[in-house]
Amino acid sequence: MKQRHFDRFLSESFNLEITKIEGDEILEGLITNKTTSKKHPILKGIPRFVLPDENYAINFGIQWNKFKSTQLDSQSGLTITHHRLWENTKWPAEKLQDKVILEAGSGAGRFTEILLKTGATVVSLDLSNAVDANYDNNYGKHEGDLFIVQANIYDIPFKDGYFDYVFCYGVIQHTPDPDLTYFKIFQKVKPGGSISIDSYRDYGRPRFAIHYKYSWRKITTKIKPHTLLRIIKFYMPFWLPIDIALKKLPFKIGSQLLYVFPIPCWNYYGRFDLKYKALLNWAVMDTFDALGATYDQPKTKEQIQKMIESPENAFSEVFYGSNGIVANARKRI
Ligand SMILES: C[S@@+](CC[C@H](N)C(=O)[O-])C[C@H]1O[C@@H](n2cnc3c(N)ncnc32)[C@H](O)[C@@H]1O
Repeated sequence: MKQRHFDRFLSESFNLEITKIEGDEILEGLITNKTTSKKHPILKGIPRFVLPDENYAINFGIQWNKFKSTQLDSQSGLTITHHRLWENTKWPAEKLQDKVILEAGSGAGRFTEILLKTGATVVSLDLSNAVDANYDNNYGKHEGDLFIVQANIYDIPFKDGYFDYVFCYGVIQHTPDPDLTYFKIFQKVKPGGSISIDSYRDYGRPRFAIHYKYSWRKITTKIKPHTLLRIIKFYMPFWLPIDIALKKLPFKIGSQLLYVFPIPCWNYYGRFDLKYKALLNWAVMDTFDALGATYDQPKTKEQIQKMIESPENAFSEVFYGSNGIVANARKRI
């Protein structure tokens, strides 16, 4: 982080003590809360308001550090993330240059990369040490200015009503209380500012009937994340070619067979134009994501509508899109 990040986003509530600086990069130090005197270390250039072993998102830390660049558009050669962001938020990319965006639950930074290309100032936070992956992927590499912190959405260390835009994709279903999650990030939107979230969709059926992963998750969420990843890495090279062969069968016979014999495999064959090695990487990563996340709480459209209802809204919309359901809102001025 840089001194200017501290001055702009944290100095009102915190004091800064620098112990290691290279050029203008503060690599190590201590941030102390002026009211509570609680101390938070700066490690590897990132303020840590939570430590990795203090939280439920360890699996994501493992996932995003092992598969650091797998899903970045700049690495995959695809434009999935670009389209998902701009088509669903409907934000004016060309007008974000002097704006400040809060990205909540940034993972390895696939969306951070796209947001930074606008030239905006992006503040990205994540509960897990995925922040290190985001730092390696995006810090100092784009036109926009990036400030990364490791922090909990339920205790964001920034002022309320400060951000022009708040972005949170792929996250709320993985938090213990999605409604509270939305409430917390909505607080950070400034008057006249916008928020965009997405959520897994609940089809109003029992979980096991939404997706077979919910049956597997009864077992897999009890396995230690490192062990689960090892298991998936072991069987995926054997299973993925079979899964691909099944997908190639006519009349969707393969899909029917997979209902009977549902080996967990997030296989993007036929959906994304990826070489086999990349397909395998994505399969291991997303299978681990689906089976290892502590929380996986899809919502119906009606539930999301209720979640984002607020007298502070000047505008709001909820529609099917992105990873299930998208909600956009703008705060009254
Ligand atoms: C599925 S990943 C999505 C990451 C990124 N938004 C993307 O789409 O690639 C969910 C992320 O949310 C983060 N997360 C979950 N609960 C959080 C919380 N309470 N505060 C901050 N981040 C959280 C996880 O650590 C994880 O990196």
